[in-house]
Amino acid sequence: PAPGWATEADVVVVGSGVAGLTVALRCAAAGAKVTVVTKARLDDGSTRWAQGGIAAALGEGDTPEQHLDDTLVAGAGLCDERAVRTLVTEGPDAVRRLIATGARFDADDETGEILLTREGGHHRRRIAHAGGDATGAEISRALVEAVRAAGIDTVENALVLDLLKDGSGRAAGVTLHVMGEGQRDGVGAVRAGAVVLATGGMGQIFSATTNPAVSTGDGVALALRAGAEVSDLEFVQFHPTVLWLGPEAEGQQPLVSEAVRGEGAHLVDADGVRFMQGRHELAELAPRDIVAKGITRRMQERGAEHMYLDARHFGARMWERRFPTILAACRAHGIDPVTEPIPVAPAAHYASGGVRTDLRGRTTVPGLYACGEVACTGVHGANRLASNSLLEGLVFAERIAEDITAAEGPARPAATAEQPYTGAPGEAPLLASEARYEIQHIMTHGAGVLRSAESLARAADRLEGVHDDAAAQLRRDGKTAEPGVESWEATNLHLVARVLVAAALRREETRGCHWREDRPARDDAAWRRHLLVTLRPDGA
Ligand code: SIN
Repeated sequence: PAPGWATEADVVVVGSGVAGLTVALRCAAAGAKVTVVTKARLDDGSTRWAQGGIAAALGEGDTPEQHLDDTLVAGAGLCDERAVRTLVTEGPDAVRRLIATGARFDADDETGEILLTREGGHHRRRIAHAGGDATGAEISRALVEAVRAAGIDTVENALVLDLLKDGSGRAAGVTLHVMGEGQRDGVGAVRAGAVVLATGGMGQIFSATTNPAVSTGDGVALALRAGAEVSDLEFVQFHPTVLWLGPEAEGQQPLVSEAVRGEGAHLVDADGVRFMQGRHELAELAPRDIVAKGITRRMQERGAEHMYLDARHFGARMWERRFPTILAACRAHGIDPVTEPIPVAPAAHYASGGVRTDLRGRTTVPGLYACGEVACTGVHGANRLASNSLLEGLVFAERIAEDITAAEGPARPAATAEQPYTGAPGEAPLLASEARYEIQHIMTHGAGVLRSAESLARAADRLEGVHDDAAAQLRRDGKTAEPGVESWEATNLHLVARVLVAAALRREETRGCHWREDRPARDDAAWRRHLLVTLRPDGA
């Protein structure tokens, strides 16, 4: 549909997590007119769900260099060292600026020093946290309040559809589908001189994920349709310890933070045996991919559907003070971690890849930026180090704002070509909302923690089938699914899943969180490189 309304800004920010709101605040502080558009409410994205915290070399004796080393090891040879160096050196001050913006981290009552915990892959205590295990909620609260106080224009319940470009191919705004927002209702456009994608992740391509329902890969799909380069999509991180709610559990599942292991919880099997010891020098605190594989292997060996996380020794007082969110989530599902081990299994958690950017957050389309989980800055490589994601959102958001507002400031767009939403390049039809569940099922079975050429090829075929069925319906009935949030989301999930599966098939090795059972070794000679994807106009 063609836009029925349009507004203008210097900068349109799509998404309202730590990345989007930080870009918005910094651009507005530099005098730019900013509009933030977001799919649900301002605080509904992934940031709010982050538990463990934000990693930065803030503690005595810790240095950015040590943080860099841990990040590079987790990234399994595919991190861009310049990007990581930027992250770890600018990180501590970025966290201090976040505190100045209003975020309150847990601190020692007497000294006022920020309390730091450990998580997988970190050789030091370097994770700052808030409200015990509610770090993201506190960051989100502080940023939302600051955005409101700054009077920044926001549009909620706005699903981004496509990028608008000017005659030279430069980003010139976005089209949106908005519901219930008064004058800006229905399909409309925000025209802007700079477009920042901060749409978060794509965990909803799998049946079980820690991601909220809004994480449907919209930013990556938009970028692909706009001709931007996408990289490293095969590296989906599975969080090792997600509360296991039964084999049929679907959608967002409660996370049990790595910080629980950081404070001394043990992973055990049904007989109480600690199976991570001997598998890695850091045992339960090995990098995330190694722990997820350790759990999955043990589940296979024991024919079990989950393992257990045992933290009974914390006692009630520590559980209540340090991990109130997790305690409440467990108890809501009838499990009391004070008296019993918690059933856990890996679930999809984080997209290490995304829209490729340089160190200023620029994508390969002029005027289009990407920040946070939607982006691939190069800091995560083949496997993100725990608690580096909030930091990445923060640090690169500041860089993007600086880039946009530097020199003459952001240019208002010239006349824009208004493109109707097509669902995907070429002839791809809009999918019905139910396709979401089929895609999730296909991806969970074909491209989950364990993959092989066979499982991936089957997934690729079945995804093709989903497209073919919709195309046949279009030919037969002359129409696609009704345009609406759910059908657009399903179409985005399908596009992203297709590219992810193609990349995972192509990468014939095991590296970081990409685990190919038929290619169990890491192959540096052939595969110490990135897979970059752009879509041709015909959708191939
Ligand atoms: C956690 O608290 O375990 C999540 C941290 C992260 O994903 O970085």
